[in-house]
Amino acid sequence: MSNYLHGFIPEEQQRLIDQAGFLAPKIFKKIDFSGCKHLLEIGSGVGAQTQVLLSLFPQLKITCVDYSEAQVDKAKENLRGFEDRVTFSVQNAMDLDLDQKFDSVYICWVLEHIAEPRIVLEKIQRHLLPGAKVFLTEVFNSTHYTFPSLPFAQKYYKAYNDFQSRIGGHPNIGASLGNLLQQAGFTQISHWLGGFHLDQTHPEELKIMVSFWVKLMKSGAGHLIKAGLITEEEVRKMEEEYQKLPANENAVFFIQFVQAFATV
Ligand SMILES: C[S@@+](CC[C@H](N)C(=O)[O-])C[C@H]1O[C@@H](n2cnc3c(N)ncnc32)[C@H](O)[C@@H]1O
Repeated sequence: MSNYLHGFIPEEQQRLIDQAGFLAPKIFKKIDFSGCKHLLEIGSGVGAQTQVLLSLFPQLKITCVDYSEAQVDKAKENLRGFEDRVTFSVQNAMDLDLDQKFDSVYICWVLEHIAEPRIVLEKIQRHLLPGAKVFLTEVFNSTHYTFPSLPFAQKYYKAYNDFQSRIGGHPNIGASLGNLLQQAGFTQISHWLGGFHLDQTHPEELKIMVSFWVKLMKSGAGHLIKAGLITEEEVRKMEEEYQKLPANENAVFFIQFVQAFATV
């Protein structure tokens, strides 16, 4: 757990809340848990996505699972007032063990951090009722592109993705969600792309996205510096390059993520 790329400090916990709000219109375009009663959220973090789920699907009860006690404590704080709809379990999803079955599952930005995501999906499957709906959202980091190209940002991004792979994570796991779900025994699998293709036709969104992106990048900086992959000066230059991007009349910022649906 000490290898977890983004860490558990308060700034990072707040970043997850901001991120969930900012990304919700993109993430929840096709996600539909209407008709579901009890949802299992794996890697629920500080409850950022849980808040969105609770408000979009008022009939849902949610069981939140995360292996970090610090995240779960913060989630309890963030979800105060929803005690009748949310329960928490601190456990590693690799060894998922709950005495209940669910009719829905939500996982967002989590499998990328798990060395053997197929095992997690298999464990989840054993906790599902027939016909349960599963929605996954995961990164596909290779899809990131900017114009103009940003040399320090590129060096930083390579270090960020290499480091995540080195600690057992999967920076492009989005591309493999279909295969993983199939190998874990799920059926009716479908997947699709979501994300951002921003330029000066949407200057405000471009600015917000770049600022969000820099925070995401910097959440890994401590690890990358410690591992000797990047220097503090290079982190600063990466940040500078991104900060200048929205003012460029030809600026382009592109990133895609992958979502998948499956059932049992
Ligand atoms: C990037 S955060 C995403 C949190 C939340 N899904 C969101 O989008 O706001 C990933 C979360 O997964 C949790 N996590 C990572 N590996 C896990 C595992 N093997 N079992 C349970 N939780 C895990 C981390 O503690 C962290 O809270």
